[in-house]
Amino acid sequence: MLRSVILAAARSDRVERLVGTAPVSRDVVRRYVAGAALDDALKTSRELVSSGLAVSLDYLGEDTTSPEQAATTKQAYLDLLGALSAEGLCPPVEVSIKLSALGQLFDEKLAYRYAREICQAATNAGTTVTVDMEDHTTTDSTLELLMQLRKDFPDTGAVLQAYLRRTEADCRELAGAGSRVRLCKGAYDEPESVAFQAKLDVDRSYVRCLNILMAGEGRPMVATHDPRMVAIAEDRAKWFDRSPDSFEFQMLYGIRPDEQRRLIADGYTMRVYLPYGVQWYGYLMRRLAERPANLAFFLRSLGSR
Ligand code: FDA
Repeated sequence: MLRSVILAAARSDRVERLVGTAPVSRDVVRRYVAGAALDDALKTSRELVSSGLAVSLDYLGEDTTSPEQAATTKQAYLDLLGALSAEGLCPPVEVSIKLSALGQLFDEKLAYRYAREICQAATNAGTTVTVDMEDHTTTDSTLELLMQLRKDFPDTGAVLQAYLRRTEADCRELAGAGSRVRLCKGAYDEPESVAFQAKLDVDRSYVRCLNILMAGEGRPMVATHDPRMVAIAEDRAKWFDRSPDSFEFQMLYGIRPDEQRRLIADGYTMRVYLPYGVQWYGYLMRRLAERPANLAFFLRSLGSR
């Protein structure tokens, strides 16, 4: 219930204006976000890389409604990839993109064209792009555009959400050689007709999807903070005789940093999803919805600096 309310607020322009203009403590946002500027993204990436982590950088923004905004987002990624390359950070730093931030909701062709430009810049820089997955109304379009991108940029990563009933079948489609698939549980408020609602059902689906990806020939990217899912992934990797460099764990910046370090110490690749930019509102609200306990921390910070 509380999760649905927070996710509804995540989509509300009125609440965004209210929260966005409130003096939200920098500490709350900084817990999950590198900062507002490109330099913040570079600085935090350098720190994470020097501690042995891989990184996927996300320029914050979603549900873009104007071509100008989409062009600004595309240019931000081109600037980012140029700077990462100049600093010799590619790899282990890659980028994650949201097609809705590139205009998918009003002009799919434009979003595809911009995504291609970003993939080309990533290839030139020596790194990869992963295409985030948004709410279920965009899944078909996102997978279709991803397939187009993979024709010329075969290492473009997909994201699949275990809460969707369709995802087991999508995992089978995408488990082939050369494919990179980030498996997450899913962060949006979805109807029962398309998504499992109970945590237990989502977890069971996650394990079924993980089995398919681990048994396949692609590179599974196990994106979860759930200790049970992490343990099951470690177990399945052994069962399917996977070497630690044939798959990776992924977590969000600011969540379970001790476990991130533990996984590196045990010889795994651990990639941190690191957002930056001024449009932190939707991203932060989804993180609060995942853990309503964080809401108290957030509310306390309203009014304090
Ligand atoms: P779950 O929510 O069951 O949490 C398990 C445990 O993790 C909790 O008990 C708690 O200990 C800890 N935890 C989880 N969330 C926390 C938080 N916010 N603060 C503190 N502790 C927390 N989703 C999506 O729909 N599309 C996408 O493209 C992506 N991309 C993506 C990339 C990466 C690298 C990650 C890790 C996640 C995503 N997600 C996503 C988000 C994902 O779908 C999901 O909402 C979150 O990862 C939370 O689910 P968990 O698997 O962590 O389990």
